[in-house]
Amino acid sequence: MTSYLLDVDTGIDDALAITYLAALPDTEFVAVTASPGNVDADQVARTTLALLELCGRPGVEVAVGARVPLSIPLVTTPETHGPQGIGYAVLPEPDGAVSDRDAVDLWIEHARARPGELTALITAPLTNFALALRRAPDLPDLLARVVIMGGSFYHQGNTTPTAEWNTHVDPHAAKEVFAAYRGKPLDRLPVICSLDTTERMELHPRHVQELAAAAGAAVPELVLPDQPEGQASTSSNALIRHLSDALRFYFEFHRRYDQGYLAHVHDFFAAGVAAGTLEHATRLATVDVETESPLLIGTTVADYRALWNAPPNAWIVSANNPEQAFTELVAAVGRLATRLG
Ligand code: BDR
Ligand code: CA
Repeated sequence: MTSYLLDVDTGIDDALAITYLAALPDTEFVAVTASPGNVDADQVARTTLALLELCGRPGVEVAVGARVPLSIPLVTTPETHGPQGIGYAVLPEPDGAVSDRDAVDLWIEHARARPGELTALITAPLTNFALALRRAPDLPDLLARVVIMGGSFYHQGNTTPTAEWNTHVDPHAAKEVFAAYRGKPLDRLPVICSLDTTERMELHPRHVQELAAAAGAAVPELVLPDQPEGQASTSSNALIRHLSDALRFYFEFHRRYDQGYLAHVHDFFAAGVAAGTLEHATRLATVDVETESPLLIGTTVADYRALWNAPPNAWIVSANNPEQAFTELVAAVGRLATRLG
């Protein structure tokens, strides 16, 4: 059993990450918290709760923490993920309610209650995690494992020429998190899934088709570049229909930016790293984040050769296997969709 504290900014690829973890038989969602990023934090929480219920995981506590980044105004990205964060998908209203507890309190309480047991996965700007580390500097010693989607090292940015979205939304939080891990034991350092490897996770229309087929669809689930933008899925399987509508939006977004009719599913990869199901290799580094320069704000820098003479603070994912990842995704989510009907 893997027991997770999740912090998300759902987000189409966050939604895929949550769905994938929900599909694994040995996942416990201890708490899922919302950071502002792709959309505002309250929207993130509502969507995430609805998604967990859709995935057959009712009753998970979903809470909001910070509503803005630590030091700069919030910028959201409805053009990337749609107004609700899940593209063209419109989820049913959740039966449950978003918790009125504070996300940061929840993280600290759960980590202290179950030392060494919880896996933290953050697929959002690091605002809530930085606040948790400020209040509980012992958090790195309490968490079994930390996996973060963020940053871009020897790879172009997706928000500025050098900066990745999550670190660009809250660079000060990212800087604080990496500073908090300096000098910590190597087996406690966070694993960083940066654009260097997450942009290799190219989900194509054929994967949507394979997913629907794995769920037993009678007709092929076709999401094609020459169809009208926004064409709604008619799948009778609710999970497949919502994923298909979400991914169509993400395909159209990537095409608009000349990347092809495909989607980079960054957060799904980070979820698989946290679950230990996706093949990857890591490399030890000292990471820091630029917060001052208008040209480079949000840019992450990795020192692999101890040139800064500073202790390592991260394991950066240096290699991964997209083919194995998508085979695993289709099998796991296909099973879940079949079970939910
Ligand atoms: C990251 O930014 C967000 O838009 C995605 O959900 C992902 O977490 C990729 O840069
Ligand atoms: Ca995200």
